[in-house]
Amino acid sequence: MSKIAVAAGLLAAVLVACQQQESAPKRNPRVAEPSELAATMRTMTADMEELQAKAQAGTLTLADVESLRAAHEPIKTATPTKPEEIKESYPGFAEAYLANLDALYDALKNQADREAQIEAFNAVIATCESCHQQHCPGPLERIRGIKVAE
Ligand code: HEC
Repeated sequence: MSKIAVAAGLLAAVLVACQQQESAPKRNPRVAEPSELAATMRTMTADMEELQAKAQAGTLTLADVESLRAAHEPIKTATPTKPEEIKESYPGFAEAYLANLDALYDALKNQADREAQIEAFNAVIATCESCHQQHCPGPLERIRGIKVAE
């Protein structure tokens, strides 16, 4: 019985995206609404996972990336769950992320071949990774899984 309770507790900790198991929150994560930033991140993750196969095939289109730019822009201003954990490096990473999305757009505009598409796509995901190494290590494995093999 107590073993089950411990297992359930660990599972709950794993389900909280940003938390390491050793710093499980006291509040119940299933009750908490996602923050503005967490909601934006979920959209970004879904969008990039959706494009992964096309990036792999080298069949990304301008339209694919065009709509993302506006949807991902709130990364700069959205309120995070724990503002006190946002470091000074955050705005730079946010700008770099959007700049890499623009670079992907430009590559497609210049009719990038498959290799160039993969390179530009992976550069975007690498920016997710860099920011997360400093801010929110929980989703790193999922983020790395979005990268495309060359
Ligand atoms: C500029 C820094 C930064 C960049 C770039 C960034 N993230 Fe995040 N991400 C964060 C922070 C900070 C949080 C925590 C948000 C919160 O809890 O309010 C987060 C949260 C998340 C979460 C958890 C959301 C949830 O359900 O709680 C996922 C998944 C995620 N990011 C994936 C990504 C992906 C995929 C990318 C790139 C496409 C990306 N992130 C780019 C900083 C960043």
